[in-house]
Amino acid sequence: MNDARDHLEALIASREVRIAVIGLGYVGLPLAHALYAGGARVLGVDNDPAKIESLNAGRNYLKHLGDAMAAELAASDRFDVTTDFERLAEVDVVLVCVPTPLRAGRVPDLSYVERTGVEIGRRLHAGQLVVLESTTYPGTTRREFAGAIEAGASDRRISLRLGQEYWIAFSPEREDPGRKSHTTASIPKLVGGLDTEATRLAAGVYRLGIKEVIEVESAEVAEAAKILENVYRAVNIAMVNEMKTILTDMGINIFDVIRAAATKPFGFEAFWPGPGLGGHCIPIDPYYLSWRAKQIGHEARFIELAGEINHAMPGYVVERTIAALSKRGRL
Ligand SMILES: NC(=O)c1ccc[n+]([C@@H]2O[C@H](COP(=O)([O-])OP(=O)(O)OC[C@H]3O[C@@H](n4cnc5c(N)ncnc54)[C@H](O)[C@@H]3O)[C@@H](O)[C@H]2O)c1
Repeated sequence: MNDARDHLEALIASREVRIAVIGLGYVGLPLAHALYAGGARVLGVDNDPAKIESLNAGRNYLKHLGDAMAAELAASDRFDVTTDFERLAEVDVVLVCVPTPLRAGRVPDLSYVERTGVEIGRRLHAGQLVVLESTTYPGTTRREFAGAIEAGASDRRISLRLGQEYWIAFSPEREDPGRKSHTTASIPKLVGGLDTEATRLAAGVYRLGIKEVIEVESAEVAEAAKILENVYRAVNIAMVNEMKTILTDMGINIFDVIRAAATKPFGFEAFWPGPGLGGHCIPIDPYYLSWRAKQIGHEARFIELAGEINHAMPGYVVERTIAALSKRGRL
């Protein structure tokens, strides 16, 4: 018998649950919309007043998502936005989508995650579920994030039992801004809690707006799965970038080669060479793992080598462009 948990479960089942999404950027805004579209009541929280003003006016600052989405949200009485963290006291579920950049020296910057954890802790109440979505190294949810929530709660002399009166989970974001073939609602979502109740409750919340939700063994499995996905891409992109430089000097077109190799129906996935690594994820996330690996005495050699090769590509492309232009007498 657990009244706080039963109450939260009933709210999720009836779609009466109130969900706050903190950080209304590339990840948070489409997620907030997907849950709203699934029938939940959503409060968007961002510390950038310009974003709040824009959403209140029905204007989208993320052009690929369109003004129609922002207008729909602005007109609804199930969606609201604020810069005021005190309003977290109103909600049953808090989803955290704040940035996780790198500091100088490729050191993870968890300050956004930790500050947000403290703010949540200060308004924590029985029956609340908190889910971290920001990409990070395995162990962050249990250590740094849960620790920050606890510190915030103790600032206000709030004393609640984790796993009994409130729950914490991790659910990685697989958003690919601008991709037409998938949306937040159609990309399968992994969920792993600090305990099995947290996993189950968080999965119930995401099922309101996301077609396929996969419950995994722990928050650490969910955190590591996201990093694995991005390391896999970074390493494969580096591999074709290296092949490009070698095959070019052999007079062979890498694009013809990849198209030919991709006719194999198994065991090969096409990755394409290019001058840079786009997006917020691939140039950053792998270094979260390599930093953490160093702390426990491992050198993440694939990650470091992939980074070295990929970061050299802009220079390689510039050099080849200069050579091609001077050959044609354009320089
Ligand atoms: N962009 C992507 O394609 C993508 C994909 C998967 C995962 N991620 C991960 O998701 C997380 C968020 O990335 P994003 O691309 O949405 O970032 P973003 O910069 O687009 O958005 C972050 C938002 O958080 C707000 N914010 C920052 N600090 C805050 C605070 N203390 N309180 C409230 N709001 C705050 C910012 O104003 C901004 O609106 C990162 O961990 C990123 O690695 C991003």
